[in-house]
Amino acid sequence: MSDLADMKERLERFGHEAVERIHQADSLQSLEQLRIRYLGKKGALTEMLKGVGRLPAEERPLIGSAVNRLKHELAEALRERESLLQVRLEEERIAAERIDVTLPGRRHPRGAVHPVQKGLDEMTAIFQQLGFLVAEGPEVEDEFHNFDALNIPPEHPARAMHDTFFFADGHLLRTHTSPVQIRTMQSMVKRGEEPPLAVVAPGRVFRCDYDMTHSPMFHQVEVFQVDRKLSMAHLKGVLSFFLSSYFGRDLPIRLRPSYFPFTEPSAEVDIGCVFCEGKGCRVCKQTGWLEVLGSGMIHPNVLKAVGIDHRRYSGFAFGLGVERLVMLKHGIPDLRLFFENDVRFLRRMGA
Ligand code: PHE
Repeated sequence: MSDLADMKERLERFGHEAVERIHQADSLQSLEQLRIRYLGKKGALTEMLKGVGRLPAEERPLIGSAVNRLKHELAEALRERESLLQVRLEEERIAAERIDVTLPGRRHPRGAVHPVQKGLDEMTAIFQQLGFLVAEGPEVEDEFHNFDALNIPPEHPARAMHDTFFFADGHLLRTHTSPVQIRTMQSMVKRGEEPPLAVVAPGRVFRCDYDMTHSPMFHQVEVFQVDRKLSMAHLKGVLSFFLSSYFGRDLPIRLRPSYFPFTEPSAEVDIGCVFCEGKGCRVCKQTGWLEVLGSGMIHPNVLKAVGIDHRRYSGFAFGLGVERLVMLKHGIPDLRLFFENDVRFLRRMGA
């Protein structure tokens, strides 16, 4: 009897101790170790149950059921502790992940329009404001549109002047946006329509040239208008509206006689130097003037080439270098900066 009582007491003490340990386990790992220690295949309870088999028959049921009760008790204690630890873990995770809404935000780098594209867009918009329609042409051209139809015959020295990139099949990279004049006038005639026609044609052009003020690829905006009785006065009016809009102030303009095969008369257009206000500086070579574009009245041969009656209609045209104007507006010294993609330059330009 006292043996039995002694055994039960030891069992109880063991049980108390085990439950106590389980309640004190502070991680799922240490809890798992306890589970193995008590309830595992080689655990204490398993050993005890084996021992029950060796007891005298009359003691077996009593001790056996006590061990079994203890086994359930411990299993229950392990489950309870496990769910408690899991809740605590979850709470810690949530606390660690809590967002501090008072923290300053992180800046995300923002992309922006390239300064050349921005200039192109601004310039195009000014002409659209005057009612000019936007047209585009191919960058790979043929000799007819880039030269012949523009009154530049095969042996004309102007072809050599243009430093053209040719393809083996006779196509070429257009050296200017003037072929868009030819293409838009041709398709107007083909539609059976007559002038008036007012077009702005922005685009990429190519010449074999590379230094501080030249890049083999650059951009032009071509502007032209065909109607009855158009004169140099209209040309100058559109030009001065455009230049003062783009530079944001009234600039003096000067037209100088010049030569282009596709315009007659032709004029080089200067603006009062934006750096010295016309007083004379290094940039304008002390002249007070900066050359910004080529212009003129469309040559009768050009109108003839596209089938427009040059006795009824006249037109003016000009073509400007986008990079050059953006450089003048923002005081950029080297045209190559536009194409080197140095982010310091692009950021300074607001990109
Ligand atoms: N196409 C000429 C150039 O690229 C510019 C120009 C256009 C001149 C239209 C007169 C009229 O040099």
